[in-house]
Amino acid sequence: MKTPIRFHLNGEEVATFAESGANLLDVLRESVGDLSVKGGCWQGTCGTCTVLIDGAPRVACVTLAETCDGRAIETVAGLRRGADLHPLQTAFIDGFAAQCGYCTPGMLMAAKALLDRNPTPTREEVVDAIAGNLCRCTGYEPIIEAVLAAARSDNRRRA
Ligand code: FES
Ligand code: FES
Repeated sequence: MKTPIRFHLNGEEVATFAESGANLLDVLRESVGDLSVKGGCWQGTCGTCTVLIDGAPRVACVTLAETCDGRAIETVAGLRRGADLHPLQTAFIDGFAAQCGYCTPGMLMAAKALLDRNPTPTREEVVDAIAGNLCRCTGYEPIIEAVLAAARSDNRRRA
């Protein structure tokens, strides 16, 4: 059975149908066409499918799509600020924080959730924010440094 659902995706209203029991990751990719959301484990353990739901990071692969009716969802596809990359995207590029890219969409969204609620995080707060996101390549250090650099550059821009 299919259930109609509506939500805001990166600020745009979306109306679609979800099979009973369908997860948000599959609905976003297959029904809505947002391929910026990546799947890795489909078991809620790797974090690469992290999206923001009403501002909070959630793993889309174990989120029932039906529970997202009426919610605001953010994905990497909505990160840009107009013609410009988000400071996190710039910092990841400049700091070589993306290598194979498997973890990058989830890392960016977990980091965005942190900076949205805490624009001046400590290193420990960054580590805590990305604790649910696995990276096989970087050893995490470039990612942590990139999130801190993005916070600094965004705060300079706002000053
Ligand atoms: S694909 Fe969702 S946590 Fe791994
Ligand atoms: S960049 Fe390859 S898993 Fe993180």
